[in-house]
Amino acid sequence: MKIRPARRVVGRLHVPGDKSISHRAGIIAALAEGTSHLSNYSSSQDCTSTLACLRSLGVNIEQNGAEVTVQGHGVATLKPAPGPLDCGNSGSTMRMLAGVLAGLKFDSVLTGDESLRGRPMKRIVEPLGLMGAKVHSDDGRPPLRIKGSGSLKGIKYEMPVASAQVKSCLLLAGLNAVGRTEVVETLGLTRDHSERMLRWFGLPLEVKRESGANRVIIEGPARLSAKDVQIPGDISSAAFLIAAAAILPGSELVIEQVGLNPTRAQIVPLLRSLGFALETSREREVCNEPVGSLLINSTNALARNVNVRPRVPREMTAQLIDELPLLAVIGSQLPAGLEIRDAGELRFKESDRIASVVTNLRAMGADVEEYPDGLSVSGPTRLRGARLESFGDHRIAMAFTVAAMAASGESELEGAEAVAVSFPEFYSSLESVVQR
Ligand code: S3P
Repeated sequence: MKIRPARRVVGRLHVPGDKSISHRAGIIAALAEGTSHLSNYSSSQDCTSTLACLRSLGVNIEQNGAEVTVQGHGVATLKPAPGPLDCGNSGSTMRMLAGVLAGLKFDSVLTGDESLRGRPMKRIVEPLGLMGAKVHSDDGRPPLRIKGSGSLKGIKYEMPVASAQVKSCLLLAGLNAVGRTEVVETLGLTRDHSERMLRWFGLPLEVKRESGANRVIIEGPARLSAKDVQIPGDISSAAFLIAAAAILPGSELVIEQVGLNPTRAQIVPLLRSLGFALETSREREVCNEPVGSLLINSTNALARNVNVRPRVPREMTAQLIDELPLLAVIGSQLPAGLEIRDAGELRFKESDRIASVVTNLRAMGADVEEYPDGLSVSGPTRLRGARLESFGDHRIAMAFTVAAMAASGESELEGAEAVAVSFPEFYSSLESVVQR
């Protein structure tokens, strides 16, 4: 795809439903008793993979665009799939469904595309094993072969990685386990959409936040009752549009009805701390999730006098994990650049996101240092148009589309179609607000 420089972005728009919340709504509705209507379900390929897997497991699902109706019959009523379950590119689908399937009485195989087949699964195989599940993987990579025994026991587990997918996998397994499942986060609080969604479906889930630890506790076996869910706009998709507004002078953008869950929307306070003007309005809770509108004005953040390179605070990296590639792009425009550390998890995403970002930023003329757990980018840099690569990774494709809009000449992005994994409407949304 050829990407031309842009002058600014101006307008008001909605982004599609949140991907993380849509996965959870689909899966949890399938485990609940009764019919749940999900509105504004994510249009992403990843969330389509989740619905396809649930259908293969015998769940009756009707979909009309972003409206999805799920008929659930209880936690233990899924049926064996006719073949391997294809999770596509979606780590969330694989890790969360593994939690569900580990406690059922039949065998299942979970697989995915080449990128997903390269991603680490030991992080769920080990704790599921402690619960009594039999999950086999070659060298900790997919496919996952789950031997259904139908008898899990609750465990207390302190996560060795800060991962909402691992936490969610274990909570879903805990629904069908005997006794108490306690997941402890000490390395940083991760997004709490599963906790909120399980409560919305009637689970008396307990959360204890103490100094340095977050404990999530459920008692199994549990029952969930069907609920309707209104899914907010995806803040991680909105972030790309917000970033375009941040780095293109004279921009003004309003994103309506977007999720503002504080464990997920740290991009807002972080950009504020870097000098950008973001305002929220019409804030309220919808189905247990904070939602509101977000206004960004490009300001003089780029022209401020800053001598010391700012660093993304360590305690924020887990919650900002999906926004870090984009923050590196924004960093290249900041007066003293930006440093991102404590983010080694980026190497295990849809691509090695540290390497992907460093390669593309360097191609555009930026001065970047790479570390095992992050990077440091100088700024401000007048990026130049270049040949860019998505590495098959949706967030890299979108981050570098934004970079290319702020560059001095035309860029060519290889693999731009990857955006459909999370935000198929990305290019049409951009076109509706861009001014050249
Ligand atoms: C997600 C959690 C994060 C994130 C991913 C979605 C989720 O992954 O990167 O895009 O919905 O729970 P990890 O839990 O592996 O960090």
